[in-house]
Amino acid sequence: MARRFDGSTLIVASHNAGKVREISDLLRPFAIDVRSAGELGLPEPEETGQTFAENAALKAHAAAQAAQLPALADDSGLCVMALDGAPGIYSARWAGPEKDFDVAMARIERELDARGTAEKDRRAYFVCALSLAWPDGHCETFVGEVHGQLVFPKRGDRGFGYDPVFVPDGHKLSFGEMVPDAKHAISHRAVAFAQLIAACFPQADADPHAS
Ligand code: IMP
Repeated sequence: MARRFDGSTLIVASHNAGKVREISDLLRPFAIDVRSAGELGLPEPEETGQTFAENAALKAHAAAQAAQLPALADDSGLCVMALDGAPGIYSARWAGPEKDFDVAMARIERELDARGTAEKDRRAYFVCALSLAWPDGHCETFVGEVHGQLVFPKRGDRGFGYDPVFVPDGHKLSFGEMVPDAKHAISHRAVAFAQLIAACFPQADADPHAS
């Protein structure tokens, strides 16, 4: 059985304001004091893991050790079947130092074209690993996925990263065209969060009066 979070303060092991906001929103019903690694000036560890889960765990452990408080980290990315899972854990790096996802999406299209991958075979999935680590070294990790089809040219200007080229299975709109709530209901992050909440933040602990 997973270890339950029963503290009052949680570190979000990220320097990315968007991720911190998303995680804080999700934890609001639990009346937890959420602090970010950026706000506390904690160092960012090098992501040396070979999987999303390893990278999420190493970020969570580093923050939990540095702050001596439980810490939650997220590692995510896009895996393209016909590219043997690339960009995968290198999803952010494919956008280069300028973090230009037009460059990253163009590279995926170019590599699919180079391999002669037919449109119907342009399958891909997003992965999100969430790790909750404690200062004593215990760690719980949950992984969510959402599968779908890649489409070029890109569609829509909502969301971020690779959203405009990804159409989830059972839907016609890309993540870049969907309203945020529609994406958040089915995304890899939502799937991982649902597992985390069920295992470590049971609803019985939620404060019904928190807004
Ligand atoms: P991380 O910050 O190392 O976890 O990098 C995650 C990268 O994966 C982001 O920079 C995006 O490129 C990509 N990514 C993760 N989740 C999503 C998503 O929901 N939509 C689009 N791109 C995503």
